[in-house]
Amino acid sequence: MQAPSTATAAQKGLWEKLDASRLPAHVAIIMDGNGRWAKKRGLSRAKGHKAGVQAIRNALDTVLELGIGTITLFAFSTENWTRPPLEVSVLMTLLRQFMRIELARLMDKGIRMRALGDISLLPKPIQEGIHHVESETSENSQLQFNVALNYGGRKEILQATRSLLARHLHPDELTERVFEQHLYTSGIPDPDLLIRTSGEQRISNFLLWQMAYTELYFTDVLWPDFDSTEMLTALLDFQGRVRRYGGIDGN
Ligand code: IPE
Ligand code: IPE
Ligand code: MG
Repeated sequence: MQAPSTATAAQKGLWEKLDASRLPAHVAIIMDGNGRWAKKRGLSRAKGHKAGVQAIRNALDTVLELGIGTITLFAFSTENWTRPPLEVSVLMTLLRQFMRIELARLMDKGIRMRALGDISLLPKPIQEGIHHVESETSENSQLQFNVALNYGGRKEILQATRSLLARHLHPDELTERVFEQHLYTSGIPDPDLLIRTSGEQRISNFLLWQMAYTELYFTDVLWPDFDSTEMLTALLDFQGRVRRYGGIDGN
């Protein structure tokens, strides 16, 4: 692929190796390692989360330049409420600021945002901020940006099941297609590639249903250090994978 003029020499080499016809349609990322990034520098965890926000901007810019259609970022899990109240409050403040400050950039770049998760449990002003950004960006079509907030894969599956039970669906009518329509991700294709930063090799309750055949990529890089070079490296690795879906090579 042709590198943008802003690419460094090293990035140019990576761009040239990428095959535009084999890019993932949907990249999902578990943005992990903000706390360790801060600790290494003798900074507060809050500073790590702040640095993580800049890495989000970089990731959005890179996938936009590449023409990837969908990106989903895991920002806050249903289990993250167990962190100390001060840290939860820092994350909520950053989230609120993000919704306020980023709207103009999302509009400028044609990015459509959608929140995945039970946002009804977030503080009211944040819920309002999210709904505002979702509705303002709803006609944008350059990139679908999903942000998983108070998201848990098990909770999502339970919630879908509850909504199906409430409809008194006949068991024979329940297909994978129907079930998917009741997930937070309804209408969004499954991720082709999952990236997790910080060296942890686990899913942590992210997109459990949707990742049945997703390619997994783990890197030791901490989220605030995950730049365009790291994204291109992950994508090149992805292009070396053979996806069989239970079949055999060449099919
Ligand atoms: C990821 O970084 C951000 C969120 C979970 C909100 P962490 O805060 O988990 O950073 P580490 O894993 O403690 O380094
Ligand atoms: C996963 O990271 C959740 C997010 C990135 C939002 P965690 O840091 O919460 O995951 P564990 O606790 O290491 O599994
Ligand atoms: Mg973590």
